[in-house]
Amino acid sequence: MTVPVVISGAGLWKPEHIITNAELVTAYNGYAEKFNTDHRTEIEAGETAALERSSEGFIEKASGIKQRYAYVKDGILDVERMRPRIPHRSEEELSHQAEIALNSARTAMDAAGKTGADIDMVIVSCAYTERSYPAIAIEVQHALEIDGFGFDMLVACSAATFALQRAVDAIAAGSARCVLVINPELTSPQVNYTDRDGHFIFGDVSTAVVLEAAETCTAAHSYEVLGSKARTLYSNNIRSNFGYLAYAEDTDPFGAENLFHQQGRKVFKEVCPMAAEHLQSQVAEVGLAVPDIKRWWLHQANINMNLLISRRLLGRDASAEEAPIVLDEFANTASAGSIIAFCLHHEDLVPGDCGVICSFGAGYSIGSLVLRKREARATG
Ligand SMILES: CC(C)(COP(=O)(O)OP(=O)(O)OC[C@H]1O[C@@H](n2cnc3c(N)ncnc32)[C@H](O)[C@@H]1OP(=O)(O)O)[C@@H](O)C(=O)NCCC(=O)NCCS
Repeated sequence: MTVPVVISGAGLWKPEHIITNAELVTAYNGYAEKFNTDHRTEIEAGETAALERSSEGFIEKASGIKQRYAYVKDGILDVERMRPRIPHRSEEELSHQAEIALNSARTAMDAAGKTGADIDMVIVSCAYTERSYPAIAIEVQHALEIDGFGFDMLVACSAATFALQRAVDAIAAGSARCVLVINPELTSPQVNYTDRDGHFIFGDVSTAVVLEAAETCTAAHSYEVLGSKARTLYSNNIRSNFGYLAYAEDTDPFGAENLFHQQGRKVFKEVCPMAAEHLQSQVAEVGLAVPDIKRWWLHQANINMNLLISRRLLGRDASAEEAPIVLDEFANTASAGSIIAFCLHHEDLVPGDCGVICSFGAGYSIGSLVLRKREARATG
């Protein structure tokens, strides 16, 4: 890097509501039973397939997920509704996504020792934004009294790492001094809770990261960005088609084909080798070797994906300390997963230790940043 860029603060906000696998499975099975009763004639005539039961055992074994957080729990477990009941907010109120974005942003700014006056660029980057414009980032910028500019970007599960790369490049190029990257992952409204294959996958959360030039950093824990790498490869295997064209196409905007769906097996088989190769080459590009990496803050979609990727990288299982798992508590939080892992598992690293943040998911998209912990600068 020409101008050394650092991550100087990170923040995590999680909702107060938890949904356990047991609660989710009870609701789904109640829905399936009702569906099968209501459609008995079509099912007996072979016109409609009966819904099979979901199981807690399957979910934990296949994904590693034990629970997830929900921004609004009301409605998700109601077999007559099967989606959250989120109160509508007027244009005069703070939007839902800006609210959760701010919750994590303030923690990240405190960790970095920054106020709105220090920041000049805001990126809200996540899998979905609740509206097209004005950008959620500009709403956040306004709330934090930041003089500068903000924009939203969407790259599904790699939204956070791709935005971090944008921030690093902007600081290195001199178009920003200090950047706030926020990932308000409000995933629950796009989950099809009536789909046995996918009803357990996602959770809500918001994460935020502050980046700046090394020379302005005063944080207790900071990490020089040694390199960043983004890659995409088109695939239909993870899709969400929800969008504004439904109005003109006369299609059901809430149809199952518009909500999250995936070919989970194919994703698993195709993405794991891609992610392992990507990480290997990225580490080499910054002049390091895999054994030099003390911590892998990996994307958190599925524990078996992480186990396989770490095995390919290390030639053995990674310890919980080397590649922390947070998806048991948070589930898949789209782009926020690797940042949650970073937020919860970075302070114990010592100056000189290197770590890698990496995401992988829909697109396909893979993003990674190699970090090296810095000495804390004396502030007295
Ligand atoms: C999604 C994922 C967890 C599913 O695990 P899997 O082992 O591949 O599961 P499959 O879909 O092949 O189903 C295995 C069996 O369990 C059954 N099953 C699926 N969902 C079930 C549920 N909720 N409860 C009980 N059984 C279930 C299937 O019907 C299938 O039964 P069969 O063998 O009799 O046909 C897995 O494919 C995966 O991790 N993919 C990675 C991608 C990912 O998570 N992406 C998120 C976005 S990045």
